Amino acid sequence: MEVVDVVLKAKHLTALTGAGVSAESGVPTFRGKDGLWNKYRPEELATPEAFARNPEIVWEWYKWRMKIVFNAKPNQAHYAFAELERMGILKCLITQNVDDLHERAGSKRVLHLHGSLKVVRCTGCKKEFEVNEPPEKTLCECGSLLRPGVVWFGENLPEKILRDAIFELSLSDAIIVAGTSAVVQPAASLPYIVKRNGGIVIEVNPDVTPLTEIADISVREKAGKFMKELVDEIKLRLSSKTP
Ligand code: APR
Repeated sequence: MEVVDVVLKAKHLTALTGAGVSAESGVPTFRGKDGLWNKYRPEELATPEAFARNPEIVWEWYKWRMKIVFNAKPNQAHYAFAELERMGILKCLITQNVDDLHERAGSKRVLHLHGSLKVVRCTGCKKEFEVNEPPEKTLCECGSLLRPGVVWFGENLPEKILRDAIFELSLSDAIIVAGTSAVVQPAASLPYIVKRNGGIVIEVNPDVTPLTEIADISVREKAGKFMKELVDEIKLRLSSKTP
């Protein structure tokens, strides 16, 4: 069973992406040899307690990550997912990533499970602001501290986003899981919804992950190369089909 056959036959193809999809855009991943969690301790930078203890340090780290993300460019993997959506093949892209590279590549139906670096939220009045660069000030007009609009360890995922993702996956007869180490919950459990419903799980990752053992197809390749080849092959098949 080839990925292109599964994708062309799928009635409701979805995707779940992780940091590995943005790695080829120069955005650091979290785990693996150059992962951020090898250099920094998440409990010091990515928890509500860390922010309460030392907001300046947390802001400094997120402003550094915002600079990297806002200066990064989408790579072939992002463009391929956007193309699959434009062709009407990919129905929904669920991402753990907090960058906006999927959107900048043209994806419209994107569910951000872990929030976005494009959003800054007031810890007091809860007002949200969209940002295109690291914010100068980190105080809201109401006087409270602003925080990055991302989900920290120990926090709940945005309820509606998670509900929408689970709904999409309940309809999904095939899912492409790309660039994730599949260890952070609840995101890591989402592909099992498709599996349990008899759907096909396709994993795209140079490394083995806990998802590998249940994946119907495991592609040991980088997302950029493989996803571009997949879209090229789909276009070839569709063009040879049209009379
Ligand atoms: N193409 C595909 N996969 C890749 C590539 C690539 N070019 N480069 C690396 N990978 C794979 C790695 O092998 C690894 O399995 O991407 C995965 C990245 O794993 P993580 O760094 O753990 O990122 P992710 O799975 O998205 O982390 C989940 O953890 O820290 C939290 O909130 C953070 O959303 C993040 C969550």
